Amino acid sequence: MPAEAMPESDREVAIRIRDLEVGFGEKTIMKGLDLDVYRGEILGFVGASGTGKSVLTRAILGLVPKRRGTIEVFGENLDELTPSSRKAIERRWGVLFQHGALFSSLTVKQNVQVPMREYLDLSERLLDELAMLKIEMVGLQPDAAEKRPADLSGGMIKRAALARALALDPEIVFLDEPTSGLDPIGAGEFDDLIATLQKTLGLTVFMVTHDLDSLYSVCDRVAALGDGKIIAAGPIETLLASQHPWLRAYFHGKRARAVAGGV
Ligand SMILES: Nc1ncnc2c1ncn2[C@@H]1O[C@H](COP(=O)(O)OP(=O)(O)OP(=O)(O)O)[C@@H](O)[C@H]1O
Ligand SMILES: [Mg+2]
Repeated sequence: MPAEAMPESDREVAIRIRDLEVGFGEKTIMKGLDLDVYRGEILGFVGASGTGKSVLTRAILGLVPKRRGTIEVFGENLDELTPSSRKAIERRWGVLFQHGALFSSLTVKQNVQVPMREYLDLSERLLDELAMLKIEMVGLQPDAAEKRPADLSGGMIKRAALARALALDPEIVFLDEPTSGLDPIGAGEFDDLIATLQKTLGLTVFMVTHDLDSLYSVCDRVAALGDGKIIAAGPIETLLASQHPWLRAYFHGKRARAVAGGV
């Protein structure tokens, strides 16, 4: 049975978040947040600007501290890891950040090699071969390898950043608004690339997005953040049927896309 047809209770969980609270100073960004991300799915993560989608992503990665709650990745509680098991978990995920996706002073190839140099002990020749493989995998021409971000189009930068996220052959990739700033055709091509890579590499994808087309075309499930909690999670039909005011405005408002079949 395909994984997405299995009852949710039987599915293997890649990321389990329980009772998460994150805040800065006086401000509480999320509280009592629970979320499961299943292995092998593309989870689309939506929410109004400033609700904390990037903060949640960074909290999972350990880049912002949490006040309470647990985060498990592949069944391991991230608070209980030794430094070496922490390093081992970090090798199993890759990240495409929302801002500053690439180091501007480095070439594409050098950017892709940053995580490789941090986590692997490889010869320069092997580093070059591996980087070229990743660059090809995301649909960039080999001559992009020696270019710097300033010489690339927006779409090429996103692809290069994806190549870097894939540098360590991760099992989970976090993509924070990977298609923002791309024209609809470029965004569609990027979505197709993510879907193809997800299938061929068996990736689990956590994708923050505002792009309705991405939600419809590539996401297996969608989770929505609002008021510091998950307000709905499930197949897109579940979110379309939600009565939550933000979800109604988002999916059925003036800028929502006309859904085939008239949902
Ligand atoms: N390091 C920080 N210190 C203080 N406040 C922060 C920090 N990082 C984020 N915030 C605040 O947390 C809130 C959530 O920010 P976040 O970037 O996660 O929003 P978002 O949902 O990703 O929005 P967008 O869709 O615009 O990317 C915002 O109010 C932001 O100002
Ligand atoms: Mg964000």
